[in-house]
Amino acid sequence: MKIAIVGTGYVGLVTGTCFAEIGVSVTCVDTNSEKIESLKKGVIPIYENGLEEMVLRNTKAKRLKFTTSLESCLDEVEVIFSAVGTPPDEDGSADLSYVLAVARTIGRHMNQYKLIVTKSTVPVGTARKVRAVIQEELDKRGVQIKFDVASNPEFLKEGNAISDFMSPDRVVVGVESERAEKLMTKLYKPFLLNNFRVIFMDIPSAEMTKYAANSMLATRISFMNDIANLCEIVGADVNMVRSGIGSDTRIGRKFLYPGIGYGGSCFPKDVKALIKTAEQNGYEMRVLKAVEEVNELQKSALFEKLQKQFQGDLKGKTITLWGLSFKPETDDMREAPALVLIDKLLNAGCQVRVYDPAAMSECKRRIGDVVYYATDMYDAVLDADTLMLITEWKEFRLPSWAVIKKAMAKRIVLDGRNIYEKKEMEELGFVYSCIGK
Ligand code: UDX
Repeated sequence: MKIAIVGTGYVGLVTGTCFAEIGVSVTCVDTNSEKIESLKKGVIPIYENGLEEMVLRNTKAKRLKFTTSLESCLDEVEVIFSAVGTPPDEDGSADLSYVLAVARTIGRHMNQYKLIVTKSTVPVGTARKVRAVIQEELDKRGVQIKFDVASNPEFLKEGNAISDFMSPDRVVVGVESERAEKLMTKLYKPFLLNNFRVIFMDIPSAEMTKYAANSMLATRISFMNDIANLCEIVGADVNMVRSGIGSDTRIGRKFLYPGIGYGGSCFPKDVKALIKTAEQNGYEMRVLKAVEEVNELQKSALFEKLQKQFQGDLKGKTITLWGLSFKPETDDMREAPALVLIDKLLNAGCQVRVYDPAAMSECKRRIGDVVYYATDMYDAVLDADTLMLITEWKEFRLPSWAVIKKAMAKRIVLDGRNIYEKKEMEELGFVYSCIGK
């Protein structure tokens, strides 16, 4: 089978490479020629476990190709996945100009049946727009060619994207024709040989599923952050509460971890977009608005603890941040709580020392040299008045506290991800505070 994937961002590149891995002949398309040139050489623009080897292997086997011209590969392929960006507009709604530009190119140049599958997260009703744009172009050309549109939202987690793609919990596909359903079955069957979990549905429901899934997960996180904050006030321990409620199978254990707020490229954007979609349709998403508000406040939780620690006098204090990315195993800093925190610390007159196993250059690119970029996690704590744990990277789990104790000016640890034990930290001689107890 031959397919094209348009957009070599995170979703597009992982999708294309994983399809190539099971034997499909994949052409990845991107208008950014620099990106395409470096991909051809096996240099990948993002940090994702195992992806680079997989790209190299499949490029070598000639199952994976890269081009800047969608037009040039259209005749060869039957299915086109569109995985271009849908950045939020100023008002929070998704910008569809890239998605519709792809549709226009396809309409202008296709010469036989195509199935156009939208993988980007797009508002309900987008597939209909894609169909209309393609039809409009075909009409302009005065030709009649059959095509289908489909919606196949992506549920990849950064850092775990390849295994999420290769063995998904489920695949959601919105289709309108048997032909499209057959093609999508053929493509996904190899991943789910023994347990075929492709859920076919109508297109608007598939489009909605993605937003509902991410919004539900974001809601769990904000709910737990709210519970954690209340636990602190009433003297309860949110970790206990979490295991207490998580053992109810109706609730489940996952995504109940309080912290300093969710970030990343999906949750903040998708929650905003769903609120917007509702507004445009005369409905108000009251729960989601609260989810967003709680998340914004939570990003300042550690800063407030710090202020309390120093009675509001932070001027001249040296503060260390361990972790910058919005979560471990990625260098992604989109909507990262670390950015909000750094901003607040600098405004309060602090010196900031940071260390992250992967996101140092990304941080530099975003904020420049306003903080000190440490050579390692121990260099980061040198003369620090407080250490803040921001991202729960594995290497921060069991550090050498003896070394840290010697290096720090004051022994204060604020743990934004609850990875250390209060009792142990106090026995070691640290003033310790975490989220929700
Ligand atoms: C998410 C969805 O999980 C994925 O299905 C979708 O396709 C894209 O968005 P991702 O953004 O990569 O994936 O990260 P995820 O691992 O889901 O974490 C999102 C944020 O929530 C992180 O900032 C993380 O720290 C936070 N989080 C997660 C919590 O604060 N508590 C939790 O219990 C879980």
